[in-house]
Amino acid sequence: MAKIIITNLQKRIITFNGESMTILEGAMENGLDWMHACGAKGRCTTCAFTLMEKEGEFSPLSEPEIRFRNLGRLGEKHRLACQTRLSGTAVVKIPRANQLPHLTYDI
Ligand code: FES
Repeated sequence: MAKIIITNLQKRIITFNGESMTILEGAMENGLDWMHACGAKGRCTTCAFTLMEKEGEFSPLSEPEIRFRNLGRLGEKHRLACQTRLSGTAVVKIPRANQLPHLTYDI
């Protein structure tokens, strides 16, 4: 089981099967809206989150993530939720640019 704690969304916790689902799929399974403008195809960075801390492992960077890293559009502490799987627990933050207007974020 994987667990994500979103610090700037009232510390919302989502749990999901991190082996079979990406973090984005896990969020949707938990009924949480998460921006994903390209439809989870790895073509935008609107699903990116900021890693604050983790106890566990993310899947290796996907090809789109490597491409965005090389272009300077995905920082070292950022991963794409539509590309990343998780084993363990991660504490994350949704960057301001990727926040949905109908949800209330703390920062
Ligand atoms: S939804 Fe576009 S890269 Fe993840």
